[in-house]
Amino acid sequence: MWRFNRKVLSILLIVIGFSSAVCFGSEISPFEPLAGPVPNQKTCPGLYCGRKLLLDSQDNFTYSSCGACDRSERPNNSSICIPCNGTPDLYDWMYLGFMVLVSLTLHIFFIDYFSDGKSKAMTLHISATLECAVSSIVTLLILDPVGSPKLRSCDVAKLSDWYTMLENPQPQYTSTLHCTQEAVYPLYTAVFIYYSIHLVLMMLVRPGLSIKFSDNLGRSSIYAALYFIPILTVMHAVFAGLIYYSYPYLTLIISLVTHAVHFAKEEIETPRLLISKKRNPVILFIHWLMHAYGIIALTRLQNPVLYGPMLACIPFPAIFYIVTARFADPSQLLAT
Ligand SMILES: *[C@@H]1O[C@H](CO)[C@@H](O)[C@H](O)[C@H]1NC(C)=O
Ligand SMILES: *[C@@H]1O[C@H](CO)[C@@H](O)[C@H](O)[C@H]1NC(C)=O
Repeated sequence: MWRFNRKVLSILLIVIGFSSAVCFGSEISPFEPLAGPVPNQKTCPGLYCGRKLLLDSQDNFTYSSCGACDRSERPNNSSICIPCNGTPDLYDWMYLGFMVLVSLTLHIFFIDYFSDGKSKAMTLHISATLECAVSSIVTLLILDPVGSPKLRSCDVAKLSDWYTMLENPQPQYTSTLHCTQEAVYPLYTAVFIYYSIHLVLMMLVRPGLSIKFSDNLGRSSIYAALYFIPILTVMHAVFAGLIYYSYPYLTLIISLVTHAVHFAKEEIETPRLLISKKRNPVILFIHWLMHAYGIIALTRLQNPVLYGPMLACIPFPAIFYIVTARFADPSQLLAT
């Protein structure tokens, strides 16, 4: 019985081995370079593996074995690495803007928090804003095309484009092809470049300004930035793809929450209380800008007739808060 089984098994194995040899033998091996004309079907496994052009003699092209494409290239449908020639759309630009604004907002918050709203901190606010602006401009200029505020980019199609290291294929379960690359060029690296330039610029500029013009009020906020910029960088490294797809919602939710927290903390319950302090209307206005940013990113302004009026709803949370605040007083709850 055992011997019979073994015979059947070995016959089965031979049949499977033979048919797979026939099947895979006719295919182009991903581990071999490719010479001659480019086949019109995909010849590399996985989403991000491609062949690089090795030699460009008069008529004969040779392509490497399958692997990661060079930076700013992506494989086409025949698995040949082709330079990306896209441009970022509004949503991509607003994503980059979001990453810049997160750092700017944190700077402004910490400067305000540690200086107790003293007017001498104004230099620090202006300095932080200029640092963010200058580092974004420098980032745009050093990215391809160099010296121009335009960007050449690969189009982002799906979440896995951000996490190509999770997509290395294992053809025939033998060895892994390493095809990790920046498929979302340059959105992923641009943020790293921005944060590094920004950190250096801040360390060069802010301490001097803080000592000279603001009685060293900026000391704690500079220390805070030395913590939160590396934290933001790590968050970007890990969650970039998730942030890319959720930042409009994040903007709306965070701005609504901080809006409510600010109103509650300052006990703004009537319009007169709102304008009693100079900083309250400013903070309210910043929140309105954040709401608008979230709405524009969410709708991508694709249908201005339909979505334009949504922008008119921006003051609604503030009005709603002021109208309902007096009914929501905890003392009233106890009274009933
Ligand atoms: C190109 O390929 C053809 C056919 O394979 C070969 O005869 C020829 O020598 C090649 N030319 C070069 C420059 O390698
Ligand atoms: C991919 O690029 C190669 C090299 O430019 C080209 O010959 C081939 O036709 C392209 N394949 C597709 C499907 O576009």
